Amino acid sequence: MTVLVTGGTGYIGSHTVVELLENKIKVIVIDNFTNSKREVVDRIKKITGKDFIFYEKDVCDKEALRKIFQKHSIDAVIHFAGYKAVGESVKDPLKYYQNNLFSTIQLLQVMDEADCRKLVFSSSATVYGNPKTLPIKEDFPLSTTNPYGTTKWMIEQILRDVERSNSNWSIAILRYFNPIGAHPSGLLGEDPNGIPNNLMPYIMKVANHELGTLNVFGNDYNTKDGTGVRDYIHVVDLAKGHLKALDKIAKTTGVDAYNLGTGIGYSVLEMIHTFEKVNGVKINYRITDRRPGDIDACYADASYAEKELGWKAEKSLEDMCRDAYHYIVQNKK
Ligand code: UD1
Repeated sequence: MTVLVTGGTGYIGSHTVVELLENKIKVIVIDNFTNSKREVVDRIKKITGKDFIFYEKDVCDKEALRKIFQKHSIDAVIHFAGYKAVGESVKDPLKYYQNNLFSTIQLLQVMDEADCRKLVFSSSATVYGNPKTLPIKEDFPLSTTNPYGTTKWMIEQILRDVERSNSNWSIAILRYFNPIGAHPSGLLGEDPNGIPNNLMPYIMKVANHELGTLNVFGNDYNTKDGTGVRDYIHVVDLAKGHLKALDKIAKTTGVDAYNLGTGIGYSVLEMIHTFEKVNGVKINYRITDRRPGDIDACYADASYAEKELGWKAEKSLEDMCRDAYHYIVQNKK
């Protein structure tokens, strides 16, 4: 089987390419390094001892996509490529709608021309907005709070319409909860430039003395200790979910959405204390105001993915904290 991976050098994409190669799947990656580093290509090869085809191209470049589909016989696509910074999407919504929607539409058109109609799409738990009850099930009402989330929601609707127009399509929509951690080799992980927006990258930079103090955004939420609760999932577990989704779409047609989470919610303070304990480091923090738009708690009912895909997250919060710290120490600047 040959799989085209868009955004295959990004955080989740790179871990997924490793899993694909380790499962003897032929991989073609397209990425333009907008939010990733060139060295990731060699690092994937180093971890797996396997080669893959790489194109430095933009998914918005339709001619480039066409040429790739003409040159190779592609069985399925995993589509990660897209912008993902929530704050930036609020400031520059058109950049997000232009890039995330346009690239996906082009990709779907070229896939259709090439008679390749099997797709795994990278969505997010952000499409559930502020859920009324927990845990979150796939059939909960969808709503979004920022343009980034709206692009994910819109693409989900586009995919459903496309499948409705031609029942040969087979599409798995994967709704990720909060991916963290890194490859146990220390060669792949998440290392955003500048000041991170998300909790775990921020904790990693404080642990590594790149930043002084973590701001804990509010301790008056309706949760066990007042700080926000989220469903953190190890990026390697998440990557494995894509292989299970590929198996599923190989055997079926239609479109369906699956939550990829652990089903367990941890608070910000639990995250800090687990990270400290596992790695023997101190994380300085202070309680500050809430971050606008944040919700109390968000965690998955992950039973549908287990039933339908035969997938379940296996790694613990300790594994996530250990691998995240290993990565940042190993890649000290
Ligand atoms: C964020 C995105 C969401 C995306 C998800 C993917 C925002 C507003 N939302 O979700 O769209 O799908 O990542 O991983 O960015 N926190 C702190 N201090 C910090 C950073 C975070 O206390 O410096 C707290 C937050 O208030 C929250 C928890 O940590 O309670 C997790 O925050 P974060 O890692 O940013 O993820 P989400 O907000 O869940």
